[in-house]
Amino acid sequence: MLSGKKDLGKLKKSKREYSDTTTAYGSRYFNKSIPKYEMPKEGMPAQAAYQLIHDELNLDGNPALNLASFVTTWMEPEADKLMMETIDKNYVDNDEYPQTQKIEERVVNMLARLFNAPEECNSLGTAAIGSSEAIMLGLLAHKWKWRERRKAEGKSIDKPNIVMGADVHTVWEKFARYFDVELKLIPLQEDLYTITTEDVASEIDENTIAVGVVVGTTFTGQMDPVGGINELLLEIKKDKGWDIPIHVDGASGGFIAPFLYPDLEWDFRLEQVRSINVSGHKYGLVYPGVGWVIFKDKTDIPEDLIFNINYLGGNMSNYSLNFSKASNTIIAQYYNFIRLGFQGYKDIINNMMENARYMAGELEKTGIFEVINQELHFPLVTVKLKNTDYTVFQLSDKLREKGWIVPAYTLPKNADDIAVLRMVIKENFGRDMVDDFLDDINKACTSLESEEKKESTRDNPSLLY
Ligand SMILES: Cc1ncc(COP(=O)(O)O)c(C=O)c1O
Repeated sequence: MLSGKKDLGKLKKSKREYSDTTTAYGSRYFNKSIPKYEMPKEGMPAQAAYQLIHDELNLDGNPALNLASFVTTWMEPEADKLMMETIDKNYVDNDEYPQTQKIEERVVNMLARLFNAPEECNSLGTAAIGSSEAIMLGLLAHKWKWRERRKAEGKSIDKPNIVMGADVHTVWEKFARYFDVELKLIPLQEDLYTITTEDVASEIDENTIAVGVVVGTTFTGQMDPVGGINELLLEIKKDKGWDIPIHVDGASGGFIAPFLYPDLEWDFRLEQVRSINVSGHKYGLVYPGVGWVIFKDKTDIPEDLIFNINYLGGNMSNYSLNFSKASNTIIAQYYNFIRLGFQGYKDIINNMMENARYMAGELEKTGIFEVINQELHFPLVTVKLKNTDYTVFQLSDKLREKGWIVPAYTLPKNADDIAVLRMVIKENFGRDMVDDFLDDINKACTSLESEEKKESTRDNPSLLY
């Protein structure tokens, strides 16, 4: 029997024995801190390492409640299986994995046709890590082509610029900074949130390497006027001889417009649209890690940007910013194409749109919110608060208490006094989820309202009478 201070002291010092048959939770690794700064001298059993990391990741948000990201959070079990089966294949080893390369080419072909590349064109493209890399590759090609043209004309190549609206994703600004191109960023206008053809007309000049347009902007899901900009550039080509290409950022919209708005001309049907990027991992419905850039014709990619490599066995051509990467997202993209077909994508996207419209309508009905992308073309709902004492930032925090991840932010320059909440509706966000979300957002508003009332009563007790 233990008694007295002396015996207790002895017990504390005695070395604890751990049983070999205990679970990870009974092991020596669960009563001390996980290594964080220095690689431990010795490792630990796989089960313990797995459990420690797995449990820590429980503190992350739940992807199914993440309305912030456009990125896919669910795929079919068969897609998961294929992805696990191909997780060990490095994309860049074309010679070792020729079938994977063939599959990539099939996806590129299907996308070129989906984007209505004219038959006489020899379209090319490549898988990228996401739209970010795809955009860089598209714009680099245009910068090189512009230089080739200028050199051939004996003109200066010192001052390339790129014209786009402030509604572009940050990656466009990154391109300009990283690759030393002057950024001509057109500020937004309140109540429009996209650029206009006139804006573009006043910015372009002989040094413009490309005009960037967005189909499905990150901020409000709207669309720049691609058709009008194409007309403008055709006129300029005729009048001044400047052949300025359009690169369309279809990160989100590239997988929506072809299915829902087949008659809308935003793609290779327009003469000056020479390259398009799309995120496979957004509405392409593949897990994170895949984007695509498609060039209308092989003449749109300068040859000296294509690297021929032979040290992986065989001769391979490569146009990318990085080298090794996973190939299983490419396989998963192909799986979706043949599994869903055109009609399958259309059905899913129609459901997303109906759920998004329903959410927008219900939010408007509360009288608290104003939907700022009233004409919903893409499945995202962007709202601002009409007249409340609390902000969208407080509301976003409040929703987090229930697990909902909803971003609150101010719009870009010239519309930056408008703060919004944005909800991206994905395929696995069904009608009941929308209703649960609406319920929680209403409760969050009521709670914030009463908190604000309490605050103002405390600050101004006369309000009590
Ligand atoms: C319009 C637009 N362009 C580019 C990107 C960057 O795409 P990715 O995340 O695929 O690199 C995004 C991301 O949300 C986007 O919305």
